[in-house]
Amino acid sequence: MTVVQGIVLVLHLLGMAAILGGWFATRHEGRVHPAMLWGARAQILTGLILVGLVEAAADPTDPPNHPKIAVKLVVALSVVACMEIANARQRRAGVGEVPRPGGRSGGSATTAVATVPAVTLVRVGAALTLLNVVIAVLWT
Ligand code: HEM
Repeated sequence: MTVVQGIVLVLHLLGMAAILGGWFATRHEGRVHPAMLWGARAQILTGLILVGLVEAAADPTDPPNHPKIAVKLVVALSVVACMEIANARQRRAGVGEVPRPGGRSGGSATTAVATVPAVTLVRVGAALTLLNVVIAVLWT
């Protein structure tokens, strides 16, 4: 493994930690922590860079596991979709917005209604992240 590949792998693992850590920190609030959103986006980017680096360094007689990579990509795209949709719903409801002086801030009446579907999306996103960890480690 080259130094660059090692650095990207570290970023890839930090992205995973951001998703799961963000979920753990806000698991009782049912909202998307910004770390989850950015972690999910980072997983796609760092994952694709890793694929490029792994392909470039691969031994022709021992190619990378393409079905595994494809499955991980589909799962990661589902994670990012969950986070983006939940985040959009939150923003529309004003949940998680930093109140600005004299500006519009989130109303608590809409918060409960808007976070109900977001809770499920956030949970599904976290569960799919866990699934990708299991695939990454156990699918050899
Ligand atoms: C939620 C999304 C993801 C999670 C949680 C995740 C998790 C992981 C973990 C834990 C590893 C380290 C496994 C090990 O070294 O034994 C890993 C490695 C890797 N991941 Fe992901 N991953 C995700 C998304 C992706 C995506 C979208 C791709 C590319 C399409 C990808 C490609 C790779 C590759 C190529 C490696 C191996 C790096 C190497 O062997 O040097 N991952 N991933």
